[in-house]
Amino acid sequence: KNQTHQTLITMHEHAKKFFHHILVNTEAGKEAMAYLESRDIPKDVIEEFEIGFAPDNRQILLKVMEKEFDDTLYGQSGLFIERDDGSYTDRFVNRIMFPIKDAQGKTIGFSGRMMPSEQAQQDVKQPKYLNSPETEIFNKRDVIYNFHLARPHIRKSNDVFLFEGFMDVIASHMSGVKNAVATMGTSLTEQQISRLERVCQDVTIVYDGDAAGINATNRAVELLTDNTTLGVQVVMLPNRLDPDEYRKTYGLEALENELKHHQLTVFQFKKQFLSQEFNLDNESDVLTYLDLVLQELAKIPSVIEKDFALTQLSEEYHVSKDTLQIQLNSFIQSNKAHQF
Ligand code: CTP
Ligand code: MN
Ligand code: MN
Ligand code: MN
Ligand code: MN
Repeated sequence: KNQTHQTLITMHEHAKKFFHHILVNTEAGKEAMAYLESRDIPKDVIEEFEIGFAPDNRQILLKVMEKEFDDTLYGQSGLFIERDDGSYTDRFVNRIMFPIKDAQGKTIGFSGRMMPSEQAQQDVKQPKYLNSPETEIFNKRDVIYNFHLARPHIRKSNDVFLFEGFMDVIASHMSGVKNAVATMGTSLTEQQISRLERVCQDVTIVYDGDAAGINATNRAVELLTDNTTLGVQVVMLPNRLDPDEYRKTYGLEALENELKHHQLTVFQFKKQFLSQEFNLDNESDVLTYLDLVLQELAKIPSVIEKDFALTQLSEEYHVSKDTLQIQLNSFIQSNKAHQF
């Protein structure tokens, strides 16, 4: 890799150590530390993920960097904002800092979480998480949060748990499920998928239980089943909770149990996902719903899962299994016809 690339990484490593030091060892980090404690993030996890804090001061990282690096790469680094007069100020101010690392564990960017005191002020129109901009070393479409730490666990289990947020990855890790990664607040990309395909055969999607998370789950399921040979499972958490909120409410063991023992197949997820859109006390809704469910079932290769699902649907909606089978067969036929 070229010299600029190396220097940008060195600058990020330097910034990471500085932010971490501020959080862990200084008065300026006390409030952030207390906030992380209130979220049950223990000291060893702060160390492992090298979480830090960017103090409420627009010049502090700048001053630290000036001792080690000349300013030629300040603009390109994404760590600073360039003012009209050509001078720089810190980009991340008063934020809890999550270092984002490449597959080798080198820091290539940051995401900074707003402090709860600022979040409470309704007039402050700042994003909850502020990410590094795209730079020569930081490409949001390519990076997978925690891939470096998770990779040996992904290889070993042959499965990866995919989350929405940093705190969800950390909650999973704390519960002992360490094959945990997240995208950077964007939908899953082809680059990220091919990275995952190289290390495992199964993906379990565990997005937030709110409407946005459920819709994003559906999109990710489509993307993965249409474009990869990865096996796909889904965990749907109750009461609109995200995985970290679920841990906070029910505890680490309950989260571990959800992740390991409540995985839905793609078909089970689709069945549940589609049911949201219908009033299943209404007969005509049931007919439309069953049609859509059978269309999804027609895409499932496993003969056993198809038979199992037909038995279940037959009992649930009081339709004979033979009738359901006939409808299913017609969808399977028409799928085949469309392939040519
Ligand atoms: N995100 C982002 N910019 C935002 C909001 C969210 O980049 N303004 C990304 C972050 O990566 C975040 C993820 O989307 O982790 C999920 O967003 P959300 O569910 O809103 O945040 P949480 O991860 O639940 O954050 P927290 O628990 O700290 O409130
Ligand atoms: Mn440390
Ligand atoms: Mn969310
Ligand atoms: Mn969330
Ligand atoms: Mn959360």
